[in-house]
Amino acid sequence: MAGLFGLVWLSLWRDVKRLEAALGAALGEGERPPWPWWPWFRRLADDIERLARGRSEQAATRARLAQAGALIVERLPDPLIVLGADRSVRQANGAARAAFGEDIAAVLRHPTLRAAIDRAYTERATQSVAFSLPVPVQREVRASVVHLLQELPDGGAAIVVLADRSREQAVERMRADFVANASHELRTPLASLIGFIDTLRGPAADDPAAQARFLGIMAEQAARMNRLIDDLLRLSRIEVDEHLPPTSRVDLRALLLRLAAAFEVRLAERGMRLDLALAETLPEIPGDHDQIVQVGQNLLDNALKYGRDGGIVRLAAQATGAPGRPGVAIIVEDDGPGIPRDHLPRLTERFYRVDKGRSRAAGGTGLGLAIVKHVVNRHRGQLTIESEEGHFARFTVWLPAGEPGSPDGDKK
Ligand SMILES: Nc1ncnc2c1ncn2[C@@H]1O[C@H](COP(=O)(O)OP(=O)(O)O)[C@@H](O)[C@H]1O
Ligand SMILES: [Mg+2]
Repeated sequence: MAGLFGLVWLSLWRDVKRLEAALGAALGEGERPPWPWWPWFRRLADDIERLARGRSEQAATRARLAQAGALIVERLPDPLIVLGADRSVRQANGAARAAFGEDIAAVLRHPTLRAAIDRAYTERATQSVAFSLPVPVQREVRASVVHLLQELPDGGAAIVVLADRSREQAVERMRADFVANASHELRTPLASLIGFIDTLRGPAADDPAAQARFLGIMAEQAARMNRLIDDLLRLSRIEVDEHLPPTSRVDLRALLLRLAAAFEVRLAERGMRLDLALAETLPEIPGDHDQIVQVGQNLLDNALKYGRDGGIVRLAAQATGAPGRPGVAIIVEDDGPGIPRDHLPRLTERFYRVDKGRSRAAGGTGLGLAIVKHVVNRHRGQLTIESEEGHFARFTVWLPAGEPGSPDGDKK
């Protein structure tokens, strides 16, 4: 009987010893001095409690680390997307959302980037590619896909670093365009100025009447060069920021009322009448106030220049749009000679004019509608030109309503 009791006791003692050793190892405390028999179970319970506490602290630390990682990614100034082992999006940081909004999915679907992601996963090496996104506005994007080799605590396996190179490329393109177009457009008035200077110095040196006349023409040519340069600068400024949607809000009704008032005198000079039809309430829209004023000015200016004497210029605005795509349509229409059908598609090209002579005589630069188009593009809106020769020319600018800088207006 005593022998059996001793055997049970011995076996229990061995198990407790094993438990003690295992807990010591788990707690990282190794060999520990032997305990007297009586507080065994209490000390074991203490150890287990400590172990459990350690476990939950560890889990919290890991969660904090994962959170810190996510926060760093979120706050980095470059657009960054974290992909999981299955290549799904784990995180797109603030810069990526600001730059691409809902287009992030479209960016990742781009065949060039998809192929780079595939290569990065199979070769486990960084891949860099460049590609362009055609919609909603042309954008040049450079991307590096970095495989992390080891999974992050939150499941991230690779990161995609994006750089929007649209601005640099637009600047590049503009430089090339400027040399090609602008120098040509500027050369004409400049050549005429040089010609008159020669005349003033030579044949007209002693002819005050001719001098006065030539100086008048020269002043006109100089003013024309001035206008050209102004419009070119305006256009380039708009183009450079075209990929960044406006972030402020515009009260269209107030803006158009002020614009109409500013044009009234000039219209009256040509015996024209302004037919103003603004809806009582127009939604505030995300927009760049000065650029929208520029759009209105350019369109009204054209109606004034190319409309008919004594005609009617209509300026209308109303809320319209497809379901899920609210917006405002601004319409500028004149009842002048209109625009021949063949010219309509090319009208917004820079320096494109139906009648160069008439445009020049009216002080045009051929850049007005190009500016309108680029402003509308930047606002993710739409420009429609309709005309019936001999009857009317109608320009409709549709601008999306929605959160400023959000891609609401991009939904198709
Ligand atoms: N309301 C209009 N009616 C007839 N033609 C127009 C009208 N608006 C524009 N156009 C044509 O489109 C051309 C381009 O317009 P725009 O870009 O504003 O340049 P600009 O007015 O400086 O010539 C004009 O030269 C003209 O031929
Ligand atoms: Mg014009």
